Amino acid sequence: MKMKTRITEMLGIEYPIIQGGMAWVAEHHLAAAVSEAGGLGLIGGANAPGEVVREEIRKAKALTKKPFGVNVMLMSPYADDVAKVVVEEGVKVVTTGAGNPAKYMKMWKEAGIIVIPVVASVALAKLMERGGADAVVAEGTESGGHIGEATTMTLVPQVVDAVSIPVIAAGGIGDGRGIAAAFMLGAEAVQMGTRFVVAKESIVHENYKQRIIKAKDIDSAVTGRTHGHPVRCLRNQMTREYNRLEAEGKSFEELEYLTLGTLRKAVQEGDTTNGTVMAGQIAGLVTKEQTCKEMIDEMMEQADKLLGGCQK
Ligand SMILES: Cc1cc2nc3c(=O)[nH]c(=O)nc-3n(C[C@H](O)[C@H](O)[C@H](O)COP(=O)(O)O)c2cc1C
Repeated sequence: MKMKTRITEMLGIEYPIIQGGMAWVAEHHLAAAVSEAGGLGLIGGANAPGEVVREEIRKAKALTKKPFGVNVMLMSPYADDVAKVVVEEGVKVVTTGAGNPAKYMKMWKEAGIIVIPVVASVALAKLMERGGADAVVAEGTESGGHIGEATTMTLVPQVVDAVSIPVIAAGGIGDGRGIAAAFMLGAEAVQMGTRFVVAKESIVHENYKQRIIKAKDIDSAVTGRTHGHPVRCLRNQMTREYNRLEAEGKSFEELEYLTLGTLRKAVQEGDTTNGTVMAGQIAGLVTKEQTCKEMIDEMMEQADKLLGGCQK
């Protein structure tokens, strides 16, 4: 079963599933495994220096001949370097988070790169379309990591109505039902993060995976709302402490200091008590570790049944 949409055609992938470019999590093993399974894997550039990202791209190339992309975090101090590295390495697809990629657009388009910004509002989606984006990821507040306010259910159809480029739905999608629902809202692909964190090919520490696998529907918390930088992660000692200090009116800088290096601590050292365990509300639906291929095949079979094979 193949599902053809403008996104699968544009990216040259079999299935309309993109694995989010997650900081510390989305390295070459995961990205290559998702691409090999017929989706689009992304390497998360996060705050890594250009040369580290270059190395990751080269390692992914050694594992797959299929297309994969890079998520460029625009707020990274190394964003300028990473923006050049993706061109030099011939990366086909770039997604961007945390801002407006306008200053790199000319360079990327001249290099033939497909540019897909992540947006959390209709206004930003329109701005990106005017700026030459090829598609947008409309990401709802259910997502793990940095979030906006609108839910996926409300955001996706409004973005679909507002732009003519294809829309990829993200946030709270964890199985074939979520994919089918996203298609009903007008999306032409989905981006998933939380479920792929627990993939067999994901290098994330076993403690982190188990926190997601054991999580219930209401186990996530949002930190940083008061300062306009909300982040969704699983509730633990860290989120409780953060929210307590936030309620006391601590400054953004003081709160940032508290979280410095804590995602890495959770991902690599497995500290799920004082580390930041970024994950979305859909964690409650994620119950087992599987290979990316098992996940994608299972989800596509379910989505296809629900959509009545109408997308073939
Ligand atoms: C651990 C983690 C780290 C993330 N880091 C980033 C990031 O660096 N850049 C980005 O654009 N999105 C990031 N995201 C968001 C994902 O790319 C994706 O859009 C989101 O997880 C989709 O929602 P879901 O978690 O409900 O599947 C992250 C998500 C998670 C769970």
